[in-house]
Amino acid sequence: MTGSEPLNQSDEDLEAIELRTLAHYEQNAESFWAGTQHHDVSQNIAAFLQALPKDRALDILDFGCGPGRDLATFKALGHHPTGLDGSLSFCQMAQTHSACPTLHQQFLNLDLDEASFDGIFANASLFHIPSLELPRILKQLHKTLRPGGILFSSNPRGESEGWQGARYGHYMQLETMQGFLEQAGFAVIHHYYRPEGLPRELQPWLAMVSRKS
Ligand SMILES: C[S@@+](CC[C@H](N)C(=O)[O-])C[C@H]1O[C@@H](n2cnc3c(N)ncnc32)[C@H](O)[C@@H]1O
Repeated sequence: MTGSEPLNQSDEDLEAIELRTLAHYEQNAESFWAGTQHHDVSQNIAAFLQALPKDRALDILDFGCGPGRDLATFKALGHHPTGLDGSLSFCQMAQTHSACPTLHQQFLNLDLDEASFDGIFANASLFHIPSLELPRILKQLHKTLRPGGILFSSNPRGESEGWQGARYGHYMQLETMQGFLEQAGFAVIHHYYRPEGLPRELQPWLAMVSRKS
């Protein structure tokens, strides 16, 4: 399967997509940590927290937390973050690196309590969800947020869906992602492109801050 080849996605295909992508992360867990632990995502963390109450510790779900870099940051800022990832190695590493609770769950089979988080930080994770399933998952994320809760997402920009090597990716431009978010009951309140300060053609990442409405 190549970058933009559409899939005929049965339930079995969807499970296979998820497991193959997760297997890639699982097999490369240590090198992923080595390569990303010093990534500067302070712009994203600031944009997310800016949209949330400042006067109290927040319950935050780090959706697709990886090895725990951002969990540690949220905890150091005095919040109560919980990680969620489908890779068991990442869940274990995240617990070691951040001492935060982590949920070993797959995006297509979530088990989250209603109204239990103030905010969801989905840094470079939602794009792994096939388009067919994105509406359902976004509605689940909407449900697990408290009233007025915030969803932050950062995803590669584009207009393709399919395999990029061993990982499945769904790349969207602003209007498409906004459509999915609004359909699930979110209002987009802010967006920007990354890395900061470069011409648009050198900014492959689209960051969005959305409020549960
Ligand atoms: C590009 S990494 C981003 C990790 C981290 N948020 C960061 O910014 O470094 C994508 C993360 O999503 C997780 N992931 C991908 N597909 C998943 C799925 N179907 N279910 C659960 N986790 C998944 C991966 O294990 C990985 O931790």
